[in-house]
Amino acid sequence: MAENTDPGSLSETYLQISPNILASFPKFRPPVDLYVFDPAVGRTGRYLRGGERLSREGQTEVARFAEEGRLFLLREDYRVYAEHLSKRLGLMLVEEGFLPQEVAEIFFLALRDRMADFLDQPREDTFEALRRDVSILAEYVWIDPSRVAFLTHTLERDYDLAVHAVNTMLIGLALYLRLTGGKVEKTVLISLSLGLLLHDLGMVMVPRFIRDKEQFLVRRDRESIERHIEAGRNMVRRLGIQDPIILECMEQHHERLDGSGYPERRFDKDISTMGRLCAVADSFSAIVGDRPYHSARDTADAVRLLIGDGRRYDPALTALLARVMDERVTE
Ligand SMILES: [Fe+2]
Ligand SMILES: [Fe+2]
Repeated sequence: MAENTDPGSLSETYLQISPNILASFPKFRPPVDLYVFDPAVGRTGRYLRGGERLSREGQTEVARFAEEGRLFLLREDYRVYAEHLSKRLGLMLVEEGFLPQEVAEIFFLALRDRMADFLDQPREDTFEALRRDVSILAEYVWIDPSRVAFLTHTLERDYDLAVHAVNTMLIGLALYLRLTGGKVEKTVLISLSLGLLLHDLGMVMVPRFIRDKEQFLVRRDRESIERHIEAGRNMVRRLGIQDPIILECMEQHHERLDGSGYPERRFDKDISTMGRLCAVADSFSAIVGDRPYHSARDTADAVRLLIGDGRRYDPALTALLARVMDERVTE
């Protein structure tokens, strides 16, 4: 039986289960081991194993423990509760007591899953579910913009379209909050987050074998890749999405300041702030992700690479990127 008497290390070992969190668990079978603090002996002991059946009396008792603030779960079980909470993201706005890496992981899991669902079936309902969770993230960082510092620490190295989309969003959001000093409207954060998530939407129309060899393309393959811009635009048009910020991200993330980008070969001033920002976030996230043709590079290398390419990437934004990566909470 786990024991603990010191309140400081109590919160290191355990996470308090509030009535809200308890209400989100399946009534009869909580997904994690439940622990109860007994003030008479000053100890915390296990009350129920995760997945075990809880009687009706047990439920009443557990609800009372939660009300009294002495119901806990083990932080060690955080994979299980992160997965659970990622499906009920709204709780992140009312709950305190999560550690930064837990918050980061819960948001990451939620957005990756919503994004994967949307890529799988790009319909209004899956977009709505994605938009709902994005709004919760936007609200979360809008309340306290410094929170974005730890969101960028969860960048995943596995490469698939959903992971790439979420990585790009987290970096882009961090850049924008730094750029604006956090003085920003929530609706803009939501639009930008969606634009960053959807930037490569049209890639679902590009055959996977072509996507995977992006660096060694013959001309025909390159044209096929470049068509992801138009394909994505058509897909969002069919969904009735007209938000200009979302469209700017989708249309301009491959444009480069020196006119070497695509699809319109725009120059410098003709590329919007959101387009430049999406270009930096997208390229960074592509460099650090594991691709079939190269392994994931160190984030510091990726930052150096982009800073060294001031002809194509906005130097003000790559300098901010260096700051954002320095400020990450990595413990
Ligand atoms: Fe792209
Ligand atoms: Fe991309």
